[in-house]
Amino acid sequence: MKVSVCCAAPRDLTADAILVGVSEGDALLQGIASRVDALCGGLLQEIISKGEFAGKLNEVAVVYLPASGARRVVAVGLGKGEKLDAEKLRQAAASAAKIAAKGKAKTLAMYLPDQTGGGVAAEDAAAALAEGVLLGIYSYDVLKSKREQKQLSEIIVVTTEPSAMESAQRGANRGVIMAAAANMARDLVNAPANHMTPTHMAAKAEQIAAESGLQYEVLERADMERLAMGAFLGVARGSTEPPKLIVLRYEGNPGGETFAFVGKGLTFDSGGISIKPAENMHLMKSDMAGGAAVLGAMQAIGQLKPKVNILGIIPATENMPSGNALKPGDVITAMTGKTIEIISTDAEGRLILADAVAYAVKLGASKIVDIATLTGACGIALGSVYSAMITNCDKLAADLQTAAAATGERYWPMPNHDEYREMIKSPVADIKNSGGRMGGVMTGGLFIGEFVGETPWAHLDIAPTAFAESDKHYQPKGATGVAARTLAALALLWGTVN
Ligand code: BES
Ligand code: MN
Ligand code: ZN
Repeated sequence: MKVSVCCAAPRDLTADAILVGVSEGDALLQGIASRVDALCGGLLQEIISKGEFAGKLNEVAVVYLPASGARRVVAVGLGKGEKLDAEKLRQAAASAAKIAAKGKAKTLAMYLPDQTGGGVAAEDAAAALAEGVLLGIYSYDVLKSKREQKQLSEIIVVTTEPSAMESAQRGANRGVIMAAAANMARDLVNAPANHMTPTHMAAKAEQIAAESGLQYEVLERADMERLAMGAFLGVARGSTEPPKLIVLRYEGNPGGETFAFVGKGLTFDSGGISIKPAENMHLMKSDMAGGAAVLGAMQAIGQLKPKVNILGIIPATENMPSGNALKPGDVITAMTGKTIEIISTDAEGRLILADAVAYAVKLGASKIVDIATLTGACGIALGSVYSAMITNCDKLAADLQTAAAATGERYWPMPNHDEYREMIKSPVADIKNSGGRMGGVMTGGLFIGEFVGETPWAHLDIAPTAFAESDKHYQPKGATGVAARTLAALALLWGTVN
């Protein structure tokens, strides 16, 4: 996809489709919308006056320009003008682009919203438009033998103010990088488990490292044995696929602190001996979404180059039943020396993350964020609207919320009181890997927190948000790429304020 920025009046644009935002409740079109309407001979204003188009968020109207070779204006509702933000622009751009792409447009020009009365700054608006389009038109069809030809091949972010060009260019560039990060994560998550084994994930990480200027390292089973990673190795035992502990390193602040993103890379979760029901088990190919988010974020970080040091760590393995698999009742010893009683072999994510976050500490991380499709309970608590967040550090939580506000993702803070830790005390070992059905989001998250020592840490449970059941604005059905953009935004924040 070619993405560019230009400064042009509507009549000077040659794109197949011209996207323009319309605010809800404006009886008369304003600013750039009214200038585009002039190109439409006032037709846009007419359908608004007749009540056929109200400018509600994501509402789309297409007006074809006479004698122009089927060129069209795609008007998209932005909702109430005073409530406009980057997330609404992202959604609106996706809604309009999908319609334009269906109409076989090859080139799409998109006007930045008017800059009058506050609104969204040109840089953020350009980022949101580019990001929204690229996220919205994503589809996973590499495994189809007959693929639909994708027509849309060029998007142009347009402003009418020459002074906005530079920030628009910066924004569009960031939007492209952010969308590519999430789309890459989506590709990995949508890939079937036989195409996305731990070995494939490691190869992908190595490729990203080479392309985005990161250091890459992988720990093999023998390395993990040397490090006594009994928790990770316990889960990996049941599978014939060799486990990989993937480590990516971005150095943007030599000599400064290092922060770590640790993502669950469970390439297939059958449940192990505590096997899952057959129904929907195929969706457990998505249990590496946390790891994919870390890979996506690291790719974006390598390209955006914030002044910060970031480690991306991904424990990757399958969770399978076999004669060699972990059994309920077994006791294993994690790298930190803590002993763990296995109540359910299906609570495997926290086991691999226990050793992975401890490894992050060992590598010197002074802040850790882990990301995991950890619990079904998370969806029971929050539906697929929010991911859950648990932390031992309010400042880290606040930074995550700032990053999430910029990307439009949602993380709800969950409690971390000692009563939840009581629920995972074991009669035979230091800790057990399941506290039962009640409070599962907290007991699962806080289990991982037991392996970071005193390090500031936050856990993101993305189980309900990693895979969407239906299409919605910039989120097609299937893998969402959740957390990739927010982790990258967090690194940008750290790279500018810390
Ligand atoms: N990978 C699952 C969690 C999950 C469930 C992700 C649904 C996406 C959709 C995780 O490994 C798991 O099986 N968790 C168990 C924990 C329980 C045994 C304590 C669960 O949630 O049932
Ligand atoms: Mn499981
Ligand atoms: Zn799992």
